[in-house]
Amino acid sequence: MSRTVPVPQGLPQERDASPFDPPSAITRLREARPVSPLSFPDGHQGWLVTGYDEVRQALADTRFSSRLDLGVVHVPHETPGMPVATEPSPQAPGLFVSMDPPDHTRLRRLLTGAFTVKRMKLLEEHVVEVTERRLDEMARLTPPVDLVAEFALPVPSLVICELLGVPYEDRETFQVNSAKFLEKEVTLEDKIAAYGALTSYLGELVTRKRADPDEDLLSDLARNDDLGVEELTGIAFLLLLAGHETTANMLSLGAFALLEHPGQLAELHADPGLLPAAVEELLRHLSVADVFYRYATEDLELGGETIGKGSTVVLSLLAANHDPRRFADPDALDVRRSARGHLAFGHGVHQCLGQQLARIEMRAGFAGLLRRFPTLALAVPAAEVRLRTDMNIYGVHELPVTWTGTVA
Ligand code: HEM
Repeated sequence: MSRTVPVPQGLPQERDASPFDPPSAITRLREARPVSPLSFPDGHQGWLVTGYDEVRQALADTRFSSRLDLGVVHVPHETPGMPVATEPSPQAPGLFVSMDPPDHTRLRRLLTGAFTVKRMKLLEEHVVEVTERRLDEMARLTPPVDLVAEFALPVPSLVICELLGVPYEDRETFQVNSAKFLEKEVTLEDKIAAYGALTSYLGELVTRKRADPDEDLLSDLARNDDLGVEELTGIAFLLLLAGHETTANMLSLGAFALLEHPGQLAELHADPGLLPAAVEELLRHLSVADVFYRYATEDLELGGETIGKGSTVVLSLLAANHDPRRFADPDALDVRRSARGHLAFGHGVHQCLGQQLARIEMRAGFAGLLRRFPTLALAVPAAEVRLRTDMNIYGVHELPVTWTGTVA
């Protein structure tokens, strides 16, 4: 059976240090050689970058191209007519995360206005409402419940659906297919099927919006005749996928991390004003969107190594965010530290477009959860929580929680 993403050999995934820290082999590698050679199963050579300065430098330099389909969409290299793994991929329309300037700039520019800090501030009250409604519903349930299914996944899904104008009733289609899409070991056939299901669903949706626009982001984009339906579909796909999977996993893994660090949790209960800083620290500490791929468009120097033209370069944001040269005592979760400068949202031209939205969702989410469920606790031993080491966005598959009383 074919694999989709050629997972590089020697890229350890086992969370042997703790569910929240990088695999110990990655930590050792970063200390020994922050830019290390790596070989891929198909035989081609690449590099693994784990040091903070080196990862940041690579993200800032567009000579490290994003035109590599190993990330969001994989068009298999073994497909007739496809270039070999060390050449740029054909561009999937609208998927600007896998484009370089100026193509990337053209599409990103159309969206930056919709995601400004100011625009997101206007959404804040609504995000709080959505969060509180979900917490009301959760409070009516008899514990134990799965925090992922009842809270962490619905909140960002509801918010991104509303923002984009995607009917939430259709969540089954996009949640199941997005999840399939993010599986590491999914067969090529299944991955292409999931991508096809999502894009045909979204293609029909944007076509309807073009004919009959409404008050939402996809309608606004559909009014722009410079964008073709395929491009609109690609943009919708990217926003929908990035908009719910990432934040959902931050909320659930973040809750798990806080429950496993009762001292930190107590500090937040005592002083909710610490929450914005705690969100940054959780982003740094957990780095749920960990691995990103680039490829060198020319011979490049990085961390004293020469990266040959055409090399695949694997960047670990988690390893970078745990680099002691940048963050003191990096494996400690410390809600009082300044995590400023963390790379959890990336850096450079592709830095996360939705970061303000994600911050608002996380602040509202953790604030609501802590206030309404002050006795929240794990309902199973921590070792039994299923970790998403099998997925391209890290987190937990389920988080069974319990409580003894709620606050209205
Ligand atoms: C890009 C992380 C939430 C939309 C990125 C990148 C990272 C990231 C690391 C950089 C990718 C690269 O350099 O190749 C996260 C995390 C999130 C989050 C950790 C939640 C905690 C969101 C949300 C949206 C979003 C809520 C909603 C719209 C995007 C888009 C890009 C992106 C569109 C591509 C930007 C570009 O290529 O210019 N995200 N993200 N993200 N993110 Fe997020």
